[in-house]
Amino acid sequence: MPQVLSHQQLSEIADEFGTPIYIYHAERITEQYNRLKSAFRKTDASFFYASKALTNINILQHIRSIGCNVDCSSINEVRLALMAGFEPARVLYTSNNIAFSEIAEAVSLGVHVNIDSLSNLQKFGERFGHSYPVGIRLRPNIMAGGNLKISTGHNKSKFGVPVEDIAQVLDLMKTYKLHVRTLHIHTGSEIKDVAVFAKGIEVLFELIKHFSELEIIDLGGGFKVPYVPGEEGTNVELLGEKVKEEFDMMAKIYGRQLKVWFEPGKFLVSEAGYFVTKVQVLKRSGDICFAGIDSGLNHLIRPMFYGSYHHIENISNAEGLSQPYHVVGNICETDTFAEDRLIAEIREDDYLVFYNAGAYGFEMSSNYNARFKPAEVLVKDNKAHLIRRRDTLEDMLATHVILKD
Ligand code: LLP
Repeated sequence: MPQVLSHQQLSEIADEFGTPIYIYHAERITEQYNRLKSAFRKTDASFFYASKALTNINILQHIRSIGCNVDCSSINEVRLALMAGFEPARVLYTSNNIAFSEIAEAVSLGVHVNIDSLSNLQKFGERFGHSYPVGIRLRPNIMAGGNLKISTGHNKSKFGVPVEDIAQVLDLMKTYKLHVRTLHIHTGSEIKDVAVFAKGIEVLFELIKHFSELEIIDLGGGFKVPYVPGEEGTNVELLGEKVKEEFDMMAKIYGRQLKVWFEPGKFLVSEAGYFVTKVQVLKRSGDICFAGIDSGLNHLIRPMFYGSYHHIENISNAEGLSQPYHVVGNICETDTFAEDRLIAEIREDDYLVFYNAGAYGFEMSSNYNARFKPAEVLVKDNKAHLIRRRDTLEDMLATHVILKD
């Protein structure tokens, strides 16, 4: 059974640090990493945590301490990873329409780089030639992922060099003697079906004959985790077997043993996170009962942005009779977390917990309506550590340039 934080632990932390609050469980992250390592133990696999899911530096330090590497989606994430103590060889920067200056900086910092456009690949060739190994992010034209916003590999997606442009990639490689070490794809987030990953592998295997210095196949992230109770996530053990099978076959055909890299975000931190809020107002309208909480789309935007499901429990009255509620926020537009959701009877001042809050929760929060972002707590060795204090008005004003009247 996976490790979980109990209602009592969550309530005590909310009492001590206030709400709304994000609470993360270090041992649960470790457990997920160990599951991946075990699932892929028969292959030469490495894992790079997609830090965009949750960048608090204490989380990065924990990820480093358990031996996992880190994947970055901006130069600031690269800088944070280095500040968290990762050696450059454990840091990967995967491009998505970024300025070439960021790629040049990543090279000067000594981290791995995946490039996603012909124009940046050309600039890379002009500047670095064969002197620095490079990865190429390809768009495999595969439809995958939980919804269109998080689906990145299909044939209308902005991500990666379209695989049909491979001839131009090869021209650039020849012209600049590029040292292409990695071929990369990331087809989407919340991919349950192992066959989708297998399809991606097949697309890349078709191409490896062109890349004599290739060492790594990077399959990106996207493992699905269960959000709805009883739902299944990606069967990573089955995927581990499948990847071994495919890579062994490829080794037989081409006589080359390649490494496989993954960039899991949600898989490592989603289930390790809890978001605890307080009910401020109960309001009845006909047969609807609104539970208005001290949060909104400014703190957890996934339900409004993607229609995502987050399981909600009343941790102050868990034994109460279940009733349907509309759980809503305090932001000045309709920010509904859940409609007609059965939750144990809610009273004002009760704490509601949102599960699966570790990935893309705090990270996508904002100060909309000039409200403070939540604080963050990390539970490690059974101790709760504050890892981000709540904002203050001074923090929010710190970047304003106040003109004289
Ligand atoms: N690698 C690359 C290149 C990515 O773009 C992403 C996610 C990942 C790895 C990690 O994917 P994961 O394992 O977390 O599914 N905000 C959305 C998810 C956006 C994912 C963006 N890229 C959400 O809350 O569902």
